[in-house]
Amino acid sequence: MLDTVIRNAEIVTAADRIRAEIGIRDGRIVTIAEDVGPAREEIDAAGLLALPGGIDAHVHLEQPQGGGVVMADGFESGTRSAAAGGNTTVMPFALQQKGQSLREAVQAYHEAADGKCFVDTSFHLIITDPTPQVLGQELPALVKAGYTSFKVFMTYDDMVLNDAQLLDVFDVARREKAMVMVHAEGYDAIRYMAKRLEEAGKTAPYYHAESRPQSVEREATHRAISHAELTDVPITIVHVSGRDPMEQIQWAKRRGMNIWAETCPQYITLTSDDLKGLNMDFEGAKYVCSPPPRDLDSQKAIWEGLRDGTFDIFSSDHCPFRFEDDKGKDAPGARTSFRWVPNGIPGIETRLPILFSEGVSKGRIPIERFVALTATNPAKLFGLYPRKGTIAVGADADITLWDPAREVTISQSLMHHDCDYTPFEGLEVTGWPVRTILRGRTIFENGEVTGSRDAGVYLERGTSQAFGA
Ligand code: URP
Ligand code: ZN
Ligand code: ZN
Ligand code: ZN
Repeated sequence: MLDTVIRNAEIVTAADRIRAEIGIRDGRIVTIAEDVGPAREEIDAAGLLALPGGIDAHVHLEQPQGGGVVMADGFESGTRSAAAGGNTTVMPFALQQKGQSLREAVQAYHEAADGKCFVDTSFHLIITDPTPQVLGQELPALVKAGYTSFKVFMTYDDMVLNDAQLLDVFDVARREKAMVMVHAEGYDAIRYMAKRLEEAGKTAPYYHAESRPQSVEREATHRAISHAELTDVPITIVHVSGRDPMEQIQWAKRRGMNIWAETCPQYITLTSDDLKGLNMDFEGAKYVCSPPPRDLDSQKAIWEGLRDGTFDIFSSDHCPFRFEDDKGKDAPGARTSFRWVPNGIPGIETRLPILFSEGVSKGRIPIERFVALTATNPAKLFGLYPRKGTIAVGADADITLWDPAREVTISQSLMHHDCDYTPFEGLEVTGWPVRTILRGRTIFENGEVTGSRDAGVYLERGTSQAFGA
């Protein structure tokens, strides 16, 4: 006897669209057939699509910040919001603070997360202090324990790595077969620009965008790719914002290099004009993220890249700060300069509806590509496939039932996060998740999160398919 059957849905994967029933037992998909027989729980999904649960491979939850700034979402509210957005797995970062051992950082994140997750989780490591101990002992041990990806930063005062350090980390990644995610923006160029803008009295949030133009991102992207070539390691360039850095990625891919790329909802929906607020006021802080949103030509380029394979994954880069305090009026130094506005915007709940509506409903990408970008490819790139990221016999029964015709206007009142705004307020979308199923259990249905905060499990990961695994 099956535990659950989903009938009458159209099943969509990265490869296929089929009409069939899905039979679930013990949290896994055990049969897909025209008629799978009886089950204890019957789900009638007539008129709905059955999609693999979303995998958001780039989210920041409860990440320590300097200056008394606190992220709006911890694991509980962040994963609740993820479930409501049709996701069954999220991948937050465990940040190593300078002077801290990586082991300690990972331990602290498990303590923050354990028992507080509505969906499954797995951590990437952020390396800010690549000491000989970290490179020689801690990283190899952690990769073997299933932490098979790291993020490195080419900017930010408290996180930036210089070229020698980047090369050292890349070298360990090649030896241990770990995927490195690179935040590619050039530190010195940004500092130069920020100083000049401040000296000219240009301090409103909008100047955050002017302080880090595409050339800054293009240069760092090329530098990261060159270092990856030298050390013979695959890397993923994350949160790519426009045509200039894309051209570097396309150049590398054309040469057969093992380079992967991610983009995010903000780069197809927002522009730097959003950072102007109403009249260059602090409202613009709501859109401050890095790299910043660009212009309409960049959005066009991003669509080309989503279609043609320049981009492999589509993540939210959910990095929420409350406008009423840390983004806006109470932020340390926030009213004096864009430089003090914490970088990042919320979006864990709106990622899938935005790509579905702007991409699939508007005819820009086929639905199989949507599934690849938001679930299958993240699972393959980060060592979760085939347990996660597809609808197949033997996979976890992580399934999102999707209403392709539902029209919704995105608004803060609909959100399940603990942030006090959404940067996508007022965006009209067609297509919305109506039910999220995690390992066979319904955790979200018709606008309500019905799962429990200890339902999510921690996932140890295997090797990225970028290594041919
Ligand atoms: O502005 C952003 N994206 N903040 C989050 C941290 C990061 O760089 O991904
Ligand atoms: Zn844990
Ligand atoms: Zn980043
Ligand atoms: Zn990020």
